[in-house]
Amino acid sequence: MSATQIDVAASSLSLLADVAARLNSETEIVRKATGVLECTVRSLGATECSLWLETPRGLVSAVRAGKLGATVEGITAILDGTAAADASVAVRRLSMGTRHLGALVLRIEGGIPAEAIIAFGAVANMLSPVLGWAESTRILQADIERHTRSIEEERRFIHQVVDSLPVSLYVIDRDYRIKAWNRNREGGSQGVQREAALGKTIFEILHRAPAEKLRREFDEVFRSGRIQQFTIETRATGEPRTYRITKIPMQVVEGELASHVITIGEDVTDFAATQERFAQSEKLAAMGQLAAGVMHEVNNPLATISSCADSLSARLDDLEGSGVDVPAASRETLGIIQSEVNRCKNIVGSLLDFARPVPREKAPIDMNASVEQTLSLLKHQKQFKRLSLQTFLEPNLPPVLACAEQMLQVLIALLQNAADAMEHEGTITVRTRRGPSSHEAVLVEVIDEGAGIARTDLPHIFEPFYTTKGPGRGTGLGLSICYSIVTGHGGRIEVDSAVGAGSTFRMLLPEGTTNE
Ligand SMILES: Nc1ncnc2c1ncn2[C@@H]1O[C@H](COP(=O)(O)OP(=O)(O)OP(=O)(O)O)[C@@H](O)[C@H]1O
Ligand SMILES: [Mg+2]
Repeated sequence: MSATQIDVAASSLSLLADVAARLNSETEIVRKATGVLECTVRSLGATECSLWLETPRGLVSAVRAGKLGATVEGITAILDGTAAADASVAVRRLSMGTRHLGALVLRIEGGIPAEAIIAFGAVANMLSPVLGWAESTRILQADIERHTRSIEEERRFIHQVVDSLPVSLYVIDRDYRIKAWNRNREGGSQGVQREAALGKTIFEILHRAPAEKLRREFDEVFRSGRIQQFTIETRATGEPRTYRITKIPMQVVEGELASHVITIGEDVTDFAATQERFAQSEKLAAMGQLAAGVMHEVNNPLATISSCADSLSARLDDLEGSGVDVPAASRETLGIIQSEVNRCKNIVGSLLDFARPVPREKAPIDMNASVEQTLSLLKHQKQFKRLSLQTFLEPNLPPVLACAEQMLQVLIALLQNAADAMEHEGTITVRTRRGPSSHEAVLVEVIDEGAGIARTDLPHIFEPFYTTKGPGRGTGLGLSICYSIVTGHGGRIEVDSAVGAGSTFRMLLPEGTTNE
């Protein structure tokens, strides 16, 4: 081998060593390759030595020394054998196995000597594996990047799924450290940004909840490996809401103990309210049946007592007429019997209104007119004079197919309760408006600023005889009758109340114009 060849080969070997050591540094490879080509040009007295790379778009000039004269078309034609290289140009394909990696071009004006051809061949042979490695590194890197991208996409997708769920969700590990925290968990009064929560212990983040209680809940799931579920009531957002909390044990490795606990919080306020309403209507229907049966049985003896008292009274009249001195106490006792029997009859009558409201003639009515009529009846009463009454009536309400008398009865009962709830002065507001659908076409609200209703009383106020008013002040039948009348009209009645702030009774009635 000549000195020139040794020179070129040494430079190529140094490149090889470098590439093997620093496969990932492409700029370094380019720099070294340029060195090799420059050395070749210098040693062989060449005009051009250029390195071309095979790309999906064809050959591309990558590195060169000297003056670039070769063209893609020229090189391709020589490699394909469709054109012969002239004496001043040599082209060598660079490949690894069957893969074409590029080409090396040498140009020496005036012709390439045989010795130079051998040296050029040696350079080409040494550059091939270098290009092969560089290519492999690139493929490996691209593979890793693709893989990382798909893992990242998968991670983002799972995050999106978890974030789209209409529940709040977080995951803790056995050290109680937060491993996942979805976007829904960021809202609300205990809302914390995901970035702030991840990695912290749950006790640092949910500091409103007693740490010991939380720890016990999680420990139970870790210990038992079973799902735990319970509901909580909270006013954290201002209004009372019900949440169903589910704690789910999660195993990262199948067959092993739970390593994480997933906690899901669902807002079930509406569901709970519907369930409660359903349970209440079932209970009231059962009570109605019971009441109807009892009243039927009570009515007959009452009628008997009443007629016995009447005949006794007539007998006393007769005795007095015939000059007998009837003791005043007897008259008094008889009077008590008669008035108590009348009271019972009234109660029975009212209870029957609840148990089996008499189907009355219905006609399309305007609820605004019912409200006006009720207020004109009540406003002169002593109890209402100390209060101020105001109305907000939405004009042109859809008609409601109803018994006007019963609507009056309901409004009077609600207004009476509102007045009872306000000991001193205050305002009672009656508001009407259009409802959201034809089933709930008209809304009538009676809003007071009274004492409000305790949470423990709320589930019972529509039950017959449920009263918090002192003896002789209320029978507890008012709302149960309202309930029966409103449901008998295909509507519903509900209440919002807060102790100390007042109550809103809301009646929702369907639209109706004919009896069909
Ligand atoms: N507007 C209101 N504000 C506060 N509490 C109310 C209101 N309306 C009803 N309540 C509560 O609901 C209970 C039941 O009411 P309901 O009208 O059925 O019976 P009552 O008013 O006690 O007696 P009655 O109406 O038979 O004379 C009341 O005793 C009261 O505790
Ligand atoms: Mg009442």
